[in-house]
Amino acid sequence: MKGLILSGGKGTRLRPLTHTNAKQLVPIANKPVLFYGLEAIREAGITDVGIIVGDTRKDIEQAVSDGSRWGIKVTYIDQPEPLGIAHAVAIAEPFIGTDPFVVYLGDNLLRDGIGDLVQEFLRRRPNGQIMLARVDNPEQFGVAELEGEKVVRLEEKPKKPKSDLALVGVYMFDSSIFEAVKCIKPSWRNELEITDAIQHMIEQDFHVESHIIDGWWKDTGKLEDMLEANRMVLDTVEERIEGSVDEGSTVEFKVVVEEGAEVRASTIRGPAIIGAGAILENSYIGPFTSIDRGVRITNSEVEHSIILEGSVIEDIPVRIADSLIGRDVVVAQSPHKPKAYRFMLGDASRVGIL
Ligand code: TTP
Repeated sequence: MKGLILSGGKGTRLRPLTHTNAKQLVPIANKPVLFYGLEAIREAGITDVGIIVGDTRKDIEQAVSDGSRWGIKVTYIDQPEPLGIAHAVAIAEPFIGTDPFVVYLGDNLLRDGIGDLVQEFLRRRPNGQIMLARVDNPEQFGVAELEGEKVVRLEEKPKKPKSDLALVGVYMFDSSIFEAVKCIKPSWRNELEITDAIQHMIEQDFHVESHIIDGWWKDTGKLEDMLEANRMVLDTVEERIEGSVDEGSTVEFKVVVEEGAEVRASTIRGPAIIGAGAILENSYIGPFTSIDRGVRITNSEVEHSIILEGSVIEDIPVRIADSLIGRDVVVAQSPHKPKAYRFMLGDASRVGIL
């Protein structure tokens, strides 16, 4: 069994972060989303892994390297343009050969991993296996229509969903998927859709099985989903204080303070993680916050947010919440007159002012 992780794509819904960063490297509880996928694949016993990469290949390669850190062997596969998930699968054919394989979308998180699902697939050996999860807003996902356990139809983002069963971003196939992809046409958004390819398999009487998963699953393609995934993962962390917390500080409930981080005259109410070398001074960090390495927060309050490496937040009089702040960002009061908001924001940034 081989693994194929998709780590290309456009990431339009996470701009401006994705102008400069791979969305799969945005950290959830201070660990890149992609690493959770790599771990899940390794835990399922798969060691031969292809990673589909696009414009951000350099960054992905730098972060993952040859995969030996996870005990896997990584092969990078260039996708010249993000022409769809089925397209990414098609270009991986030389790497996959005739092996069965799992496709894992590099921005997806599954609480329970994929070990049991891989076992099930290898035992039953259908041509395809899809995972489904019940969601409140099926019109935003690929949706499956079932008759009993049998998948009868898949529809991408339907206006009138036939069920609340969304397709989770993990699929297992044998090589019959490659024939199916050759038979489909690009969709209205000019992508080769994996739902169309699987639908084609179903119509050709290939055996496609489905599993409804019950542990949480998150596709982190949007800000709100990123924050929710961060919440879910932080909820599972165990308290660990390796950095320094001074006497004037209070740290309560599932807080991780990594080595070299300094907490001075501050309150941290977990679940929260403070990365190595971060400095908090006279500040409040509320629940569900991930502060990455080397961040400095002074005289400010932050909660339910993700702050990336090297950023500075200083003297902000109002609590910052529900935010995703990129690398090396500075949010500070501007002392100059006239009194004004002064911004330098990337394209497609979002700012909420009181
Ligand atoms: P999506 O989130 O569906 O697509 P996207 O990354 O282009 O984002 P957006 O819709 O915001 O523009 O992709 C799911 C995963 O698959 C993600 O990790 C990117 C990856 N992917 C590829 O590697 N190649 C592709 O052609 C596409 C469409 C996605």
